[in-house]
Amino acid sequence: MKFFIDTANLAQIKEAQELGILDGVTTNPSLMAKEGVVGKNNVLAHYKAICDIVDGDVSAEVISTDVQGMLREAEELCEIDPKIVIKIPIIADGIKAIKQLSAREIKTNCTLIFSSGQALLAAKAGATYVSPFIGRLDDISTEGLEIIEDIRAIFDNYGYTTEILAASIRGPMHIINCAKIGADVVTAPLSAITALLKHPLTDSGLAKFLEDAKKFNV
Ligand code: G3P
Repeated sequence: MKFFIDTANLAQIKEAQELGILDGVTTNPSLMAKEGVVGKNNVLAHYKAICDIVDGDVSAEVISTDVQGMLREAEELCEIDPKIVIKIPIIADGIKAIKQLSAREIKTNCTLIFSSGQALLAAKAGATYVSPFIGRLDDISTEGLEIIEDIRAIFDNYGYTTEILAASIRGPMHIINCAKIGADVVTAPLSAITALLKHPLTDSGLAKFLEDAKKFNV
């Protein structure tokens, strides 16, 4: 399973990259705003800074809602770096844009997926990734992981190569359950990724080993 980090925070991206497990980055306008990145030139420069840190795909989201606007933005974003993947919302014009970009072999990530039907349409249009938001479904008392299971079954039925990129991850159990189901990618905050490292028996076991190791030196 691929690990992407879901942030526009450069320090956190560096930390995940240095851990040696990072396969890519996803961003969205809210994550960029959270880092105080405003103004078109600053946004483009920030994407470049992310691409310079990470080895792998970097999703950059369009803010147009019409197909021509999306394609114009895609052109500009693609000029930043070959790692850029064009993130496009699942609306009718988004599907049209994905279809055209896919025909030109430009990678796309279809976002704001909340149903398996939406994922099916995005795959049919040739999206490289679909991003189902499981945490936001959990937030409204729906089982977010079920959509990952459904999409996995549908894609496997027809051999779609579109990758399931589980997004809106809230914690380590989301990551583990996505891995059990067979999501191709999870994009998570750094805290959810590093939480996978933690176990109290590891901490106490290591403390005991280090304590006993002191006996070697006497
Ligand atoms: O990047 C899209 C997605 O991961 C958003 O997550 O936490 O805002 O629901 P969240």
